[in-house]
Amino acid sequence: MTTTLGSLEERARARTGDFGEHALIVCDSLVRIYQSEGVEVQALQGLDLLVEHGELVAIVGASGSGKSTLLSVLSGLDVPTAGRVRVGEWDLMAMTARQRVEYRRSMVGFVWQQTARNLVPYLTAAENVAFPLMLAGVPARERAQRTDELLGVLGIAYCADRRPGEMSGGEQQRVAIAVGLANSPQVLFADEPTGELDTATSHDVLESLRTVNRELGTTVVIVTHDPGVSEHVQRTIAIRDGRTSSETVRRTHIQDDGTEHVIAEELAVLDRAGRVQLPREFREALDLVGRVRLALEESHVTIRPEKPRGRHRSAEEQA
Ligand SMILES: Nc1ncnc2c1ncn2[C@@H]1O[C@H](COP(=O)(O)OP(=O)(O)OP(=O)(O)O)[C@@H](O)[C@H]1O
Ligand SMILES: [Mg+2]
Repeated sequence: MTTTLGSLEERARARTGDFGEHALIVCDSLVRIYQSEGVEVQALQGLDLLVEHGELVAIVGASGSGKSTLLSVLSGLDVPTAGRVRVGEWDLMAMTARQRVEYRRSMVGFVWQQTARNLVPYLTAAENVAFPLMLAGVPARERAQRTDELLGVLGIAYCADRRPGEMSGGEQQRVAIAVGLANSPQVLFADEPTGELDTATSHDVLESLRTVNRELGTTVVIVTHDPGVSEHVQRTIAIRDGRTSSETVRRTHIQDDGTEHVIAEELAVLDRAGRVQLPREFREALDLVGRVRLALEESHVTIRPEKPRGRHRSAEEQA
């Protein structure tokens, strides 16, 4: 039998399965290049991301790291330059304009940073939540039921008859979460949902997202520059320069005396091409730049500068 490239690829796939075949959200080597006035900006540089059904995750990164770009892609507003992206059954690279509308209406919900973008100012909280249901043709009785249920789960039933101007920032964001959930999406995306709030109010809003995840089973993806979010979620994914670079996983450990103890551990992410991002502090501490020496030890791998440092260097220079 002749071996073709195609058959090799097939064999490799059969062995490992498709990347993230059971995950709800799969981003595989996503690239998004913006062209503006002849300048190219690589907002996403081969980003890999998997989110499982029912997870509550946060994606954290500095300004300009590509968070909003990623969310625009996942919410079906933008199409990446290259790579593969799937949410549930939806292949976001191959959707028609019509499917895109349907995807946005039925599969995903959003909460934007700007409260003004989430709510219609002249409608009450209840009317804001009922609005997307009306567009979807849901009968009045069911609309009222769903609206009551959502405002109740989010602890803002008392705001039902208030307009956005008559609510605090935190209350408005919780109504916005209810609006995002109106059509029972499988995934709720929130871009900096606490960006305009103080610490105590942010805490309440993040806890509301946690409640939604736990009680309604909705998968929730929060994007923020605030590392404090990791206290509210199971998994925090850090992105740097348009790529996932590390993950913090929180585990609850029950001690012998029965008290709960939360352990948070940050791990670097090794991508499928074998790349790992070294934190800047590590690179600067050892002047690691350009070529480095990699060595395989019995239980770990070492990375050293190409030229030895300090005393060794001067000895080498004398020679
Ligand atoms: N429409 C656009 N045209 C050109 N460049 C863009 C466009 N949108 C984003 N960029 C660039 O892409 C990079 C990533 O931007 P993005 O908005 O995704 O970052 P972010 O992580 O959301 O930042 P922030 O925390 O400030 O919201 C930035 O360098 C930004 O300048
Ligand atoms: Mg942004």
